[in-house]
Formats: sequence, C-alpha cells, structure tokens
Amino acid sequence: METNLTLSTMDADISPLGFIWGMLRSPLHTLADLARDNGDIAHVKMPKRDFYLLNHPEFIEEVLVKQQANFIKGPSLQRARIILGEGLLTSEGDEHLSQRRALQPAFHRTKMEEYLPVMGVSTFDHLTRWQHGSVVDMSDEMMRLTLNIALWSFFGSAPEGSVERVSEAMKTLIRLFPLAQLPLPEATRMLFPKFRQAKSDLNIVTETLLANPQSEQAQRALINILKNEHSDQFTDEQIHAHVLTFLLAGHETTALLLSWCWDMISQDPFVQGKLQAEADAVLGDRFPTPEDIKNLNYTRLVVKETLRMRPPAWALGRQAVQDCVIGGQDIKAGSVVLMSQWVTQHDPRFYDSPLQFRPERWSELERLPFPRYAFFPFGGGNRVCIGEHFAMTEAIAILAMISRRWQVLPTQTKHAAPKPSVTLRPNKGVKVLIEKRDV
Ligand code: HEM
Repeated sequence: METNLTLSTMDADISPLGFIWGMLRSPLHTLADLARDNGDIAHVKMPKRDFYLLNHPEFIEEVLVKQQANFIKGPSLQRARIILGEGLLTSEGDEHLSQRRALQPAFHRTKMEEYLPVMGVSTFDHLTRWQHGSVVDMSDEMMRLTLNIALWSFFGSAPEGSVERVSEAMKTLIRLFPLAQLPLPEATRMLFPKFRQAKSDLNIVTETLLANPQSEQAQRALINILKNEHSDQFTDEQIHAHVLTFLLAGHETTALLLSWCWDMISQDPFVQGKLQAEADAVLGDRFPTPEDIKNLNYTRLVVKETLRMRPPAWALGRQAVQDCVIGGQDIKAGSVVLMSQWVTQHDPRFYDSPLQFRPERWSELERLPFPRYAFFPFGGGNRVCIGEHFAMTEAIAILAMISRRWQVLPTQTKHAAPKPSVTLRPNKGVKVLIEKRDV
C-alpha cells in the first residue's frame, strides 16, 4: 500500500461564492474535489478569513494534537452553544480542562463493566417488540435504543415520555440546523415556533432528569458527578449544559453509526454470515460481558470499517487563535481549518479500493505501520471524544445481540444515501426486512 505522502499547498481554483454554494449544495463532493484538485492543504480565500482544508494525517495531527493550543473549535461548533450551552463539547481552555477532568471517571474503560448490563437489558427489551417478517427503519430503531441506553447509563432513569420528546426535538433541530448556523440574534431564532418547541422540550427533559430523586443507579452514574461529587465546580447553567450535551451527543452519533452498519451488513450476506457465526460462538444467549466484547473481534472490525466509510462526525473545524505554521503553510490567527473524516478516510493512498466495504482490511492495517490520523472518527488530542469506549462497546454489543437472533435483509438494491448535516445521516433512513433466525 502506498503511504508516502505528497506535501503540497495550493490556492484552490474556486471562488469564495462557488465554494459556499458547493458547501450548501453538496459538501461531501465539494470537499472531496477540493482535496483531489489541490493536494494536502487546499486554501480558499474567503471574504472575512482564510479557509484551509487539511488532507494529510500529519497536518491533522498537528492541529488536533501537537499544536492544539493554537486552535479553538470552529465557528460552526461555536454556534452550537445556542443549543448546547457551555458544555464539554463547546467550552474552551482551562474551563474545558477542569470540566473534562471532573467528568472523565464516568468514561473510564473499567466503567464499561457497569454500562454493559444496561446495554444488554435495553437491547433485549427493545428486540422483544420486533416481529418476524416486518419492515423496520433501523435509523428510528437505533435512535430509540441508544437514547434509552444513554438515559439509563448517564442519568440512572428514563422518565416517561423522555425518549419521544428528545427524538422529536432532535429531528427538528437537525432540520433547522442551517438556521442555527446563521449569525442571527437569538431572539430572531426564537421566532420560529418549531425551534422554540424543540428547545423547550429538551429543557423539560433536562430539568426532569436533574430533579429526579437519586435512584441507586443514578448514584453511580454521570449525573452524580454533576449533582454531588463536583457540584461546587459547576454553575447551574453548566450542569444544565452538560446534561443536554450527554443526552444528545451520548446517543445520536452511535445510533447513526449503527444505522450505517445495518445499511452495509444487510447488503452483504458474506459479512452478515460471519457476524452471525461470531455471535453464535462468542455470545450464545447471554448478555455480552467485557470479555465477550474483547472476543467479538470481527464485529469490532465491521464497526471500524463502517466508521471509516460512513463517519457520523464527517468533518472537524478549528479556528486559529494565533499565527502558526502547518505543513509549511502560514496560518494566520482567525483562519479556519477543516479536517474531514469523509475525505481522508476515503483516500486511496491509505486504503486500497476505498469505496469497498471490507472489514477484513483492518486485520492487515492493524499489523502495519499506519498513519495515525488517516483514521480519526473520534477526533484526537485533548478534545478526543470522551464517549469513544462507550460508543464502541455499545455498538459491538448491539450488533452481536441482533446478529445472534435476527437476519437483516435489504428492502432495496442501493445503499442509503449519506446526507451531511451536523452529523452524517442516511437521507431516507435504513429500511430493512427482519426475520427471526432459526437458532
Ligand atoms: C460513534 C459514536 C461517536 C462518534 C463518531 C463521536 C465523535 C466525536 C468526535 C469526532 C468528537 C471530537 C469533536 C471535536 O474535536 O471537535 C467528539 C467529542 C465528544 N463526544 Fe463523541 N462521538 C461518539 C459518541 C459519543 C458518546 C457515546 C458520547 C457520550 C457519552 C460522546 C460525547 C462527546 C463529548 C462530550 C465530546 C466533547 C469532548 C471534549 O471536547 O472534551 N460522544 N465525539
């Protein structure tokens, strides 16, 4: 495999308006074309600031890890404060560091032992509602399941109606995401009744979760860190922001990852056969244990390959806070740099036949020296996803439990079309036919 990298910087042959239009119409193609035509750093001179697309694992590592102090989150995530407030995803600097230190223990690898039974019971309960021979939309199914798991794992309860409220609010916010991106005063946004309703529904769920009496489960959950262990460190507003962040970030991306997994698996009988064989051999009829998760190796490779081809977080933006140099290119303070998982993880320099879904490729890639930031579905550096182990454990557990009992068949010949919004979603869901396996 060719991993020698060509270092080049090009002023892209695209006007600012052409670029904005391309990003509004078809961001995945626009970014892929920009990288293809302009090399490892593509430069677009925008009216207010310079924009760079980085498509080189070493440059991505510079921004996310080695020179992370020179960058803050990009404008798009800065504007997400309108919805999320100052939670872990949106805070910066020392504030972020102390919040991260306080919350990290809830995501330690060893905590997965406590989360796995919740994942097992919730998945089992969810599957009791499935009927042989019916068509289901895996996007909806996985969204509800992962939301239920997030509620129990992080907050120790799932108040009545909370799953419906959050699901509806999420749908609205994703639809209105472009509105949240416009530099409008807050009051203008509040004129949109749907936006107001979604925010109010999320507030109701957040307040209910905070007001709930501490169940035994809640005393061991993340909410206990916020309400008791570190309560002096957080203002009420910050606690509210954290609850909302974990409610939304804690389920949506994993649900999308699982939806994409089913889109891939349902169309690939060979992969599905191997998944089922592994679930039969490793899991049988019990709920997954930490040991099982380690042994479900093929299932992990399926998750990894899906994260490569359909990364739920498809681009990361950063804004330079001081002048710096990346890959020989002067980056002025105020410039925006974008790193796209979608673009880099489809780059043929790092992946043979990048458009082919081939989980087996990872058995080889994991043995070879491989550029670390040619694969970064969870970001990197001090802002790396805090929920990475949780998400991987959950995805492997759910895939294996479903594979053990169900055959998942496609309802159409084509894969679902990816629609990039705040996250990468299947445009019209993932409708599949489910049949009980004879085991
Ligand atoms: C497949 C599932 C997931 C994917 C692909 C994903 C992806 C990411 C990425 C790329 C970032 C870095 C953002 C940046 O640097 O700008 C991030 C950060 C974050 N994620 Fe995830 N995530 C997933 C699951 C989760 C889960 C399950 C949780 C909650 C338990 C979570 C909570 C967060 C939080 C709070 C941050 C901000 C961390 C910080 O800045 O310190 N994510 N995620």
